[in-house]
Amino acid sequence: MKFCQIQIITLFFLGLGDKEKLDRDSFQKAIYKLTKSAIKLDLNELSFQKENIDIENNEFLYQIIEAVSLGSYNFDHYKKEKSGKISYINFPEKLDNKNSNTDVEQLVVLDSQNFVRDLVNLRSNDIYPETLAQKVKERFAKKDVNVRIYNENQIKEMNLTAYLEVAKGSDNPPRFIVMEYLNGEKSQKPLVFVGKGLTYDSGGYSIKSNAGMKTMNADMAGAGTVIGAMDAIASNELSVNVVGVVAACENSISGKAYKPGDIIRARNNMTIEIDNTDAEGRITLADAVNYASTEYNPEMIIDLATLTGAYLVALAESYTGAVTNNQKIFEKVLEAAKEADEKIWQLPNDDTIRKYNESQVADVKNSGGKLGSTITAAQFIENFIEEKPWVHLDIAGTAYLSKPQGLFEKGATGVHVKTLYNLAKKYSK
Ligand code: BES
Ligand code: MN
Ligand code: ZN
Repeated sequence: MKFCQIQIITLFFLGLGDKEKLDRDSFQKAIYKLTKSAIKLDLNELSFQKENIDIENNEFLYQIIEAVSLGSYNFDHYKKEKSGKISYINFPEKLDNKNSNTDVEQLVVLDSQNFVRDLVNLRSNDIYPETLAQKVKERFAKKDVNVRIYNENQIKEMNLTAYLEVAKGSDNPPRFIVMEYLNGEKSQKPLVFVGKGLTYDSGGYSIKSNAGMKTMNADMAGAGTVIGAMDAIASNELSVNVVGVVAACENSISGKAYKPGDIIRARNNMTIEIDNTDAEGRITLADAVNYASTEYNPEMIIDLATLTGAYLVALAESYTGAVTNNQKIFEKVLEAAKEADEKIWQLPNDDTIRKYNESQVADVKNSGGKLGSTITAAQFIENFIEEKPWVHLDIAGTAYLSKPQGLFEKGATGVHVKTLYNLAKKYSK
């Protein structure tokens, strides 16, 4: 008996408009839409034929792979009905062979980014400090990353006292997560990435509104990006020394929670007047960056945090806000971000604005009030940096979208996994 195999092919013709006007954004958006249509038709494989496009180089492949990968992402964890995805992309042979190494490298980074999106999109009843730590353990089990998870008692012993003040209001105990990937030369100072890891931010006694609170499962997006960047760097085996630090906890209300007016002490012995319990991220970061500064001899510290609502008001969901104490280092981060097509906007680290953080009764206040509040939030963190080169990235606007934007659906974006990866690559032999 003879079998005859029938292959059904769906052909898409993609109109890209005026050739002169075709840029990266419009090209990728077209591929993204194509991906969505293909998924709707239950397809899981796309083959590209190049007709009338001259971009016969890496960039062309790169843009397609990215748009298909991001277009394939759909957060369906809580849905009975799962949506499909594109698992195979084929290119004309000539292009394919030439670029196969960069393809794999890029796919790994995109996979890390989509992993971050899942972590951030999952809700606080599923992702709390213990489960976040568990996910990190699992993800790095077979990779060359040394993961250390510290519990409440150990955190106490490590003197991370300000962080504990934020954590103590919750029944879900904190977890301090340190990830070391030391694959560079022994003499190379590590890049240290610190991520805000609030697995939920209710505001505490300075309670948020219902609308303000609802998406605060995403207040660990900074932590997510740090975890994702470590993942991409380790998976692609870059020759570089990188450390990731996350002080994970919940900002809750209970009889044990910290209150407005309290004066607490940080790891570096500074006292902090609690002006507002909803300015909690900077307190956890104070101890985390201080730990990073003193335990490692960092080449630079980059902290990533969904830190201020004010930033959203100023620059919507398109730009990450940056504050630095070292312009040279910042330029490197900016370059890495540009290569990643992830936008960053620098704000002034101005001494007249720093004054808003001054307290009458303590060494510093945890909120400088409304004026310049994205800047004062960053400057608060700077007190604990021990003068190490530092870049602060406020991702309150860019980490979690209230509506679809570019190649991203509503929700988590995994922003800056690519930036940190590109940066690490610059330091890699
Ligand atoms: N996690 C929030 C910032 C935030 C708001 C991120 C909206 C994403 C979307 C942060 O902990 C916070 O509550 N910040 C306050 C600080 C204020 C009380 C000084 C803010 O920005 O309103
Ligand atoms: Mn808050
Ligand atoms: Zn927060």
